[in-house]
Amino acid sequence: MTHQTIVVLDFGSQFTQLIARRLRELSVYSEILPFNTPIAEIRARKPVGIVLSGGPRSVSEPSAPRCEPEVYDAGVPVLGICYGMQLMTDSLGGEVAPAPQREYGHAVIHIEADAPILASVGPELRVWASHGDFVKRAPSGFTVTATSANAPVAAMVDETRRLYAILFHPEVAHTDRGTEILRNFAFDVCGCTGDWTMASFVQETVNTIRQQVGNGRVVCGLSGGVDSTVAALLIHKAIGDRLTCIFVDNGVMRLDEAAQIRKRFERLQLPLVFADASTLFLDRLAGVTDPEKKRKIIGAAFIEVFEAEAKKLAAAQGGFDFLAQGTLYPDVIESVSVIGPSHVIKSHHNVGGLPEGMRFKLVEPLRQLFKDEVRAVGKEMGLEDEFVWRQPFPGPGLAVRILGEVTDARLDLLRKADAIVAEEVKKANWYRHLWQSFAVLLPVQSVGVMGDARTYEYTAAIRAVESKDGMTADWARLPHELLASISSRIVNEVKGINRVVYDISSKPPSTIEWE
Ligand code: XMP
Repeated sequence: MTHQTIVVLDFGSQFTQLIARRLRELSVYSEILPFNTPIAEIRARKPVGIVLSGGPRSVSEPSAPRCEPEVYDAGVPVLGICYGMQLMTDSLGGEVAPAPQREYGHAVIHIEADAPILASVGPELRVWASHGDFVKRAPSGFTVTATSANAPVAAMVDETRRLYAILFHPEVAHTDRGTEILRNFAFDVCGCTGDWTMASFVQETVNTIRQQVGNGRVVCGLSGGVDSTVAALLIHKAIGDRLTCIFVDNGVMRLDEAAQIRKRFERLQLPLVFADASTLFLDRLAGVTDPEKKRKIIGAAFIEVFEAEAKKLAAAQGGFDFLAQGTLYPDVIESVSVIGPSHVIKSHHNVGGLPEGMRFKLVEPLRQLFKDEVRAVGKEMGLEDEFVWRQPFPGPGLAVRILGEVTDARLDLLRKADAIVAEEVKKANWYRHLWQSFAVLLPVQSVGVMGDARTYEYTAAIRAVESKDGMTADWARLPHELLASISSRIVNEVKGINRVVYDISSKPPSTIEWE
């Protein structure tokens, strides 16, 4: 089954992905393509509408990104946003010029009573704009449907050709009722019915996996996180016990985490091989203090254990044909080079890459999904809220949160401190608001006093950051009361830590993890 699709052509705006996400939140399937995608490829997707995204360039530049002109005659409605509007104007004979007064940030637009896609949010609307150029004169055939103090054309439409354009960004939260504008375009103009639901996704994906895998067998490396778990659930629903999951306990997971993963898989009745390799990992890490070395050791050990387990399984039950991966949509969007890609997403893979010499075909059931959608599918398939909303956790685990050598004793201290951070952050209702919140163990001893006794113990650093994608991050302004309860609980409850500090560095120049 195919879904009604709105194609978003990416001209390099930092908000392009948001357009697709907002449409999908409206149950409209949306795909992002590079601005210069040939019209035949766009047509092949049978879109019901096309959106031209914003972008950082000016249409007056000779090398400005342009879509093929046939886009305007593709026979489906087109919505130009910001740069997309300027491009539409320039391509169709209107005039774009540098704005006498640039608009960055909030602006108020005045909307005509009969303006398509905008009338329902008018007559006045606070919007988010970000442009140096403006439309001085709309192309012939267009009617101006909104104005602002600094822009004579804040929105325009050619109803005969079904071309729509707005100078502001409806996809960002700073635009009031922006989602309603996108809904008006998708439902009223493009005729969308809202056929993209997670329930239908599950059913279709299960069918696709059945077709792809046939009678083959699939092995899935589990990280313990949401993506690989949801991928495993989908594949299991499709092919049952011809899926085997391998979880490698690397000994640097959080408090009780490995046991919880085991229990969760039992409850979900997923076939799991649980490889307790903690001793092997910790032996290899003994005496190692260099962060990059630690990461390499963990990556290599993972592959080794995974490969050995897969070989054992193959000997016992026959070989595997496919490897499951939890690749998400942001990793597959082809980036455009306008002034560099609109989103450079550094993907760390928990599963440490394909074992050398093991050539599998890939099953990637989450390739179409944004992270939020993976969560929704997880919920649909019976995963608990608390798990689905977990913060990210790095593949090398606590090893990169213990500075210096990783030992059993230090792991024990960090696990206890980290669990307290998680508990307190959740109790204060900050957990979901934060990209990550955790403890780091600094094996630096300092003097303290407890009761009448002098102590000489380690320090825990608390890291809590807000971020959209982990690429940049700001330290969270946590309430002092929350920091106070974290600190007093750690010092009182974790024997071996007598000092707690709060990390107030942002990324860049610091990173989120300490190693
Ligand atoms: P940094 O420390 O580079 O981290 O600011 C950015 C984000 O990536 C996570 N991270 C990893 N995730 N394997 C992972 O799966 C890794 O090796 C890894 N290293 C860092 C980190 O937790 C943060 O969310």
